[in-house]
Amino acid sequence: MEKYNQVKELLKKYDQEQLLVKYDEMTVEQKDQLLDQILEINFDGIKDLYELTKVKTTMGEDKISPISYVDKSKLSKEEYEELEELGVNEIKQGKLAAVTMAGGQGTRLGYDGPKGTFDIGLDTHQSLFELICETLKEAKKKYDVFVPWYIMTSHENHQRTVEFFEKNKYFGYPKNEVMFFMQGEIPTISMEGKILVNEKGFPRLAADGHGGVFESMLQSGALDDMKKRKVEWVFVGPVDNPLVNMVDEILVGLAKSKKCMAAGKSVVKARPEERVGVFCTRNGKPSVVEYTEITEEMANQRDENGELVYGESHINCNLFHIDRINKIAETKLPYHVAFKKANYLDEKGNLVEGKEPNSYKFEAFIFDAFTSLDSMAILRVKREDEFAPVKNATGVDSPETSRELYKKFHGIK
Ligand code: UTP
Repeated sequence: MEKYNQVKELLKKYDQEQLLVKYDEMTVEQKDQLLDQILEINFDGIKDLYELTKVKTTMGEDKISPISYVDKSKLSKEEYEELEELGVNEIKQGKLAAVTMAGGQGTRLGYDGPKGTFDIGLDTHQSLFELICETLKEAKKKYDVFVPWYIMTSHENHQRTVEFFEKNKYFGYPKNEVMFFMQGEIPTISMEGKILVNEKGFPRLAADGHGGVFESMLQSGALDDMKKRKVEWVFVGPVDNPLVNMVDEILVGLAKSKKCMAAGKSVVKARPEERVGVFCTRNGKPSVVEYTEITEEMANQRDENGELVYGESHINCNLFHIDRINKIAETKLPYHVAFKKANYLDEKGNLVEGKEPNSYKFEAFIFDAFTSLDSMAILRVKREDEFAPVKNATGVDSPETSRELYKKFHGIK
């Protein structure tokens, strides 16, 4: 009773009393669980996040400049071989690990299941997980090492993800080289700043964005596991790109040769108005400027060769030195606001169906970690070799476009 009163008072203070809307109908166990969950919420933090929803993201006073990059396809034979040797050396010594970020909700795709289990429609019906595992199997053949594979899941999809791996016998990759870790969660709120209640009567939480990868690696013990395995370089990539090259000796070699604690891959922006973030420097540090932030003038700016000055799209394929991950994990990355559809219970306990975006979700972005680095090596790769994202159900970046790109790259009819 004491706990209940404490919670009641807290909710009154923050005007969040809807969180107890189902309390009376719950079992003793559920009641206790709910009260504990509520006590864990940082209500001041939620208030600040609500304020954030009213602010339009702009570059503000930030000084944005272009970033230098190395074009993989323009390296001379000597340069290529030098980087290759450096990278291969590291990989052969077992210093590379791969992290796949598979905790996203895949809202735009509208598929009811972990995105990694999605079948893009190849004749083989391989899932995204299976397709990206191929790069690791290839690496085993080439370098005779098993690159340890860490899969970031969310509370929402963890169980189904692990079951999928079990059912598919880890796609032939050794089970002891695959580790799962769960990312953090954060409450979603209504347009009035109220924390949403899910159908079961609990706060509606959502994965805290791919920027949560560092903190969750630290907290889950994944980082310790890597250290035990003497890993030095960690490739962090998405689950929704079947052409992701998780074991790239040139990327590792470039980071090593430039003595950078991180390296990122870019592809040339398809057109100035493409809705992608691009690499840049922000106040002298590596960063990404989002399509919502960049001015039209900057987006269209071209250099003397006719190339877009801000044309290096960030494709979420980055490499970090393990020492830097530790540091990043200890600093809190900022949250960004996403306006999304959600089902929830109103203050009377009635179900509100989100047919249109009706709630705010907060996400940390991986690239906000870049500004804590002094420098970052950027490797421009060919779009057709490494970028076939599955984002939308139809149209641009859909299963259909991804499948075609995948088939083309692998010479499949
Ligand atoms: P996106 O930002 O494209 O999000 O994720 P999404 O969840 O796949 O799709 P939408 O926006 O809901 O439609 C890019 C990568 O980051 C991972 C995704 O799984 C994908 O591999 N991600 C995203 C996470 O692991 N956790 C998150 O909280 C968000």
